Amino acid sequence: MATSVSKSITVIFSVLLLSFFLTVESQKFSRNLSQRSLGLRKEKLSHFRFYFHDIVSGPNATAIRIVEATRTNRTAATGFGDISMIDNPLTIGPERNSRLVGRAQGMYTSASINEMGLLMVMNYVFVEGKYNGSTLCIVGRNPVMSTVREMPVIGGSGLFRFARGYAEARTHTFNMSNGDAVVEFNAYVFHY
Ligand SMILES: *[C@@H]1O[C@H](CO)[C@@H](O)[C@H](O)[C@H]1NC(C)=O
Ligand SMILES: *[C@@H]1O[C@H](CO)[C@@H](O)[C@H](O)[C@H]1NC(C)=O
Ligand SMILES: *[C@@H]1O[C@H](CO)[C@@H](O)[C@H](O)[C@H]1NC(C)=O
Ligand SMILES: *[C@@H]1O[C@H](CO)[C@@H](O)[C@H](O)[C@H]1NC(C)=O
Ligand SMILES: *[C@@H]1O[C@H](CO)[C@@H](O)[C@H](O)[C@H]1NC(C)=O
Repeated sequence: MATSVSKSITVIFSVLLLSFFLTVESQKFSRNLSQRSLGLRKEKLSHFRFYFHDIVSGPNATAIRIVEATRTNRTAATGFGDISMIDNPLTIGPERNSRLVGRAQGMYTSASINEMGLLMVMNYVFVEGKYNGSTLCIVGRNPVMSTVREMPVIGGSGLFRFARGYAEARTHTFNMSNGDAVVEFNAYVFHY
């Protein structure tokens, strides 16, 4: 009788101890994973080319000035501190009505006092084919008067998880009278 009670107590304690360790195990902060367990196979390099429509004028503007900074003599020419919010169309060709492949959602701000240098913070949200719903995140400097501007691709989602790379921007057209611009983007991206 006594031994069977002590046996039961031992069993109960063992179960409690085991469940305690299992709980601790499930609460572990970090663990090592194989790449395959996330479905990551071989990393590949892709090139994407599209046109970015910065439409600042008219009833269908997609780039809206949301902050107009206080001007000083030094910042009058560069609009230092101004911020625009964008939801710009990305199209396969330079024409506005060309096929939509995505949108550039985010903002840009004039971050340079002495020249036209923008800080771009945006997500390319693709709608094209298998990339529909996947995004690339771009954060970088855009000295808009330069022929070629390079911005880092710092990550992404969907098919672009773990993405990294860079995007080159070249102004295709700039309408001096209304401020609308079409910019060619070439993005070179490592992803899985
Ligand atoms: C993960 O792997 C590294 C290197 O193999 C090892 O040093 C580390 O202890 C492991 N971490 C965990 C949580 O298992
Ligand atoms: C603005 O968008 C509307 C709806 O898509 C369209 O009917 C109109 O022609 C556009 N206006 C301009 C100036 O592009
Ligand atoms: C800004 O420029 C104007 C005209 O050149 C000048 O009169 C004024 O003193 C300047 N202000 C400052 C704060 O430098
Ligand atoms: C992209 O995905 C959305 C939502 O999943 C769907 O409504 C839309 O039709 C898709 N677009 C294309 C071009 O496949
Ligand atoms: C530039 O903007 C003006 C004013 O909105 C417009 O009349 C003109 O057609 C535009 N030029 C081009 C090449 O789109």
